[in-house]
Amino acid sequence: MKRKINDIDMRRWKEYGEILTDSWWYFPSRDNSGMHTPEYHGNFIPQIPRQAMLRFTRRGEWVLDTFAGLGTTLIEGRRLGRNAVGIELNPEIAKKARELVDNEENPYGVSTKIVVGDSTVDETYRSLPNFQLVIMHPPYWDIIKFSEDKRDLCNATSLRDFLDAMGQATKLAVEHLEPERYLVLVIGDKYSRGKWIPLGFYTMQVIMQHGLMLKSIVVKNIEENRGKRGQRALWRYRALLHGYYVFKHEYVMFFQKK
Ligand SMILES: C[S@@+](CC[C@H](N)C(=O)[O-])C[C@H]1O[C@@H](n2cnc3c(N)ncnc32)[C@H](O)[C@@H]1O
Repeated sequence: MKRKINDIDMRRWKEYGEILTDSWWYFPSRDNSGMHTPEYHGNFIPQIPRQAMLRFTRRGEWVLDTFAGLGTTLIEGRRLGRNAVGIELNPEIAKKARELVDNEENPYGVSTKIVVGDSTVDETYRSLPNFQLVIMHPPYWDIIKFSEDKRDLCNATSLRDFLDAMGQATKLAVEHLEPERYLVLVIGDKYSRGKWIPLGFYTMQVIMQHGLMLKSIVVKNIEENRGKRGQRALWRYRALLHGYYVFKHEYVMFFQKK
């Protein structure tokens, strides 16, 4: 018999209204409850890891987030009773994440751990357990300057370097992922000198080269923060002038380990 990869009881399948099954996700606002905070420019909305965990893990299982940031996945893991490990390169951000996660209630008594390190190198993964879900939310190459650290993917000197680093992180994470289980990539595209760079699709191809099967591409709305809202007219003006479209979406891609 196939092993279950979630806690959904298919006899009661109509009762799981919260779990999305369409490939277009619209979240009008982020969940800022508890220790979730919008203060980190570049964090994802908690609804993303929540959907992934509800659909592709069971209570008590282990989730790895290879680019943990302020620990959104770990906080959500506590709420859902999932153990979680987050890898984060920036020690200051990791420290903050640890504080946030520790202050979130832990009703299921799960274990949450932040490893300070580079998710593209072997030694960071030493002593990590096996996981039932991997979530990757890397920098979208150089769109946001997270740090000056050369190992930070935002400082990759070329697209090739960025993709090689993503390949390396994928390879290492997948070594710790149980067969049949899922890897979720959250990523957006970028513009460079008037050209659309399909970062999401390039990264998707890299991941597929590491023994993973593409299961779904979800398009999710990008909600506007206050700063961006103020610049809406300027972006529209530029788009009209230069013949492009303003990014309003990013991708949540789902892969399964064969
Ligand atoms: C897009 S953010 C992730 C935000 C996270 N999902 C959250 O909700 O807070 C990417 C994170 O990856 C980290 N990072 C960049 N390069 C890294 C690397 N080589 N290894 C580990 N973390 C890295 C950055 O410091 C940044 O915090």
